[in-house]
Formats: sequence, C-alpha cells, structure tokens
Amino acid sequence: MGRGRTIEADVFRGPFDPGGQPDASTGQPLEISLFAWNVRSGLSATRAVLADEARYADYWRWPSAEGLLRQADALGFDHQVQYGMWGGYGGASRWNDEGLDFATAAAASAVVTRNLNLFSTVHVGYGFHPMHIAKIGACIDVVSGGRWGLNVVSGANPDDFRKFGMTERPPGPVRYAMADEFVTLMKYLWTCDDPVDFEGEHYRCYGGSIGPKPARKPRPVLMNAGQSDAGFDFACRQADWVFAAPPRGRLEDYAAMVGKAHALAARYGRRVRVGAMCYAIVEETDDEAARTAAWLESEADYDAILYYSRAMIGTNSAMDMSEPDEWAGLGREQYLKVALGMTGYQLFGSPRTVAEKLRGLREVGVDNAAIGFFDPRKAVPLMGEKVMPVLKEMGLRI
Ligand SMILES: Cc1cc2nc3c(=O)[nH]c(=O)nc-3n(C[C@H](O)[C@H](O)[C@H](O)COP(=O)(O)O)c2cc1C
Repeated sequence: MGRGRTIEADVFRGPFDPGGQPDASTGQPLEISLFAWNVRSGLSATRAVLADEARYADYWRWPSAEGLLRQADALGFDHQVQYGMWGGYGGASRWNDEGLDFATAAAASAVVTRNLNLFSTVHVGYGFHPMHIAKIGACIDVVSGGRWGLNVVSGANPDDFRKFGMTERPPGPVRYAMADEFVTLMKYLWTCDDPVDFEGEHYRCYGGSIGPKPARKPRPVLMNAGQSDAGFDFACRQADWVFAAPPRGRLEDYAAMVGKAHALAARYGRRVRVGAMCYAIVEETDDEAARTAAWLESEADYDAILYYSRAMIGTNSAMDMSEPDEWAGLGREQYLKVALGMTGYQLFGSPRTVAEKLRGLREVGVDNAAIGFFDPRKAVPLMGEKVMPVLKEMGLRI
C-alpha cells in the first residue's frame, strides 16, 4: 500500500465511478431510515420538547441513542442517517444545538448494530480534505462490515463557515464544484490500489493512498440532498442516493423530483435511488396524533425557525435579526412545516395512516423514507410493531 507506481489523476469531476456504482438497495421495496437521531430534538423546532427534554430532545445522548439504534436494527429499519451540523439553530428549545459528530455517531452505531446501514453526514465546505474523510469512512466501513455510507453536504449556514475561518459562504456553484472534486478524489482513494497524484482546482493530493480500503465494493454508498440546480446535478452525477424535500411538498412534487433525478442520472450513464426526508408523529390513533401535532404547532419555536430559515438562504451572518412577521416571513404553512419536520414530508397519524402515507410516497417513486420522529422512544417501536406489518401487507416490505 502506497509503494506502487503513482497514478496521475486525469478525472476531476463526475460522473466518475471507477469499478461501477455500488448496489445501493437493501432489497426492500420501500426502505426506511432512522433520520436525525443524533442531534438535539432532531427535526422538531418546538418548545414542546422542553416538556420532557430527556425524551423529546436528548435522545441523541448515550445510552439513549444506543437503545434507539439497537431497536431500529432489530425492528428491520434499513439505515440510520445522521443530520450533520456544527452549530444549531438556537431558540428556547436550543434546536440542534448539541449532537454527535459524524464520525463518533457512525463508529459508535457500528458496534451496537448488526444490519443497519450507517450514513454519516459531512460538510465538504468546512475545510476537510478528502484524505480525512476517505480514511475515516473506510475505517468505519471496515469496522461495520461494509455498512458505512456518506451523505455529502456542501454546507449552508454562513455562521458555520465562519467557525471554520471563512468569512463568506461560497456561492452554491462553487460549493458544489468543491464537492465534485472532493468526491472524485475520494473515489480514487477508495478504489485505486496505487498512490494517486491529484491536482484539482480546490484539492491537491500527492501520493495519496489509504489502507484499509472500504469493505463495500467498489466503494461506500454516497448520498446528497442538494436542491438547487447545481446541487441536484452534483447528486445525479456523483451520488447513489438523491435526497429530496421539494419546497411545496405535495406528492406530485415528489413525483416530479423522482422523474427529474432518474432522467438526469441516466443522461450521465448512471442510476440513482431517491429518498424523501419525512417527519413522523405516530400515535395509536389519528386523533391522538392530531392532538400532538396541534400541541407542537402551538409551541413552535419562533427564534429557532427564524434563524434556521435565514441560515438556509445564507443571510444569518448579515445580522438582520429584525422580525418580519409572526410567521418569520415564511407564511403560516411553511413556518409550521419547518417547526414540525424541517420541511420534511409529514407522516402524522395511527400506524395505518402512517403506512398509507408511506405508500403514497412509494407510488410516486420514492425508494427510501428517511424519518425523523417527534418522540422516537414511542414511535420507533410503533413503527416496527405496527407500521411495518401494514407495509408488509401492502407489499412494501419483505
Ligand atoms: C433529506 C435532507 C437532508 C439534509 N441533511 C443535511 C444535513 O445533515 N446537514 C446539512 O448541513 N444540510 C443538510 N441538508 C441540506 C442540503 O444539504 C442542501 O444544502 C439543501 O437542501 C439546499 O440545497 P442546495 O445546497 O443545493 O442549495 C439536507 C437536506 C435534505 C433535503
């Protein structure tokens, strides 16, 4: 390792799939992921979580998260997907202000689970070098027996760029050009037996080589959740999973996004699977779920929602903290969609209702529902014991 003939990289941008794409499917007609389990209150931006912080906000702590992961694994969830953050969104609920980093979360879950795939989320824009992530990822992949994968995000929050010493958030096309080179170099490092010299515009590497190589062949599975044109194009050229959260969030919007992803990937001679970010309130009955949703809405965390929505469009560093209106300038519907699920597809109701909503997503071509739960201690067992059997009846789970 590292002593052979050095290869000169001649590809710097995707599509680039040395050895082909890995098989990103687990064989389930609809795959289910436990999402955002690693950060304080996950996808819930509501002061309601303060009613029982250990339960609704701090489930990411050990050993609570260990219990959740073991349970999800035993109940047949396909993947855990982390929410990657370096600073949260504040407010009274301290939304996402604490959480496990991508490497600790994946390595720890590797040792407490058997079958679950483990997706780390890494911000390429915050100054990592592809050598770091290729090496750390390969090691977790080896420890987990080939279950590690990577959600490559380019970084959105200007205040987080500042934490890493960058006073400006680079424009989207630049962030995705960086991500493109980053991923190309990682693919060389994961698949090439010989050391590689790589002289890109954003990354350079001389004699780059990692050992061990990842256990999954030809390389770990990659996902991306870019929604801009540059982000979506990058996802279809370089990733295996495209994660979607279309702004209006109707089933027809998911259908359109699925169609667009497949068409764009095919144009690059590739295939991608499509995931949807979802937020679930699972209760025994629809009425109970509606009551819980109404409670969460009535306690929506204005300051956290305002900060989050500004971070996403890159204006929080401008310190324009004037308060636009009671809906943080988003309109009531969008404001509540951020509060309850960070704009993800809402799965509220009894186990049967939740299963029916999942069937709706599958019918428009979604392959994977990445679900953040309001109350995972209650909802994860309900998913396994009551939702999965209905999905089985529907032919959506084997
Ligand atoms: C399902 C999903 C998961 C995401 N997870 C993260 C994350 O963990 N960390 C993060 O910084 N951004 C995350 N994002 C934001 C995206 O990476 C991306 O920046 C955002 O969708 C805006 O798209 P754009 O970068 O193309 O403008 C996620 C988005 C979606 C839809």
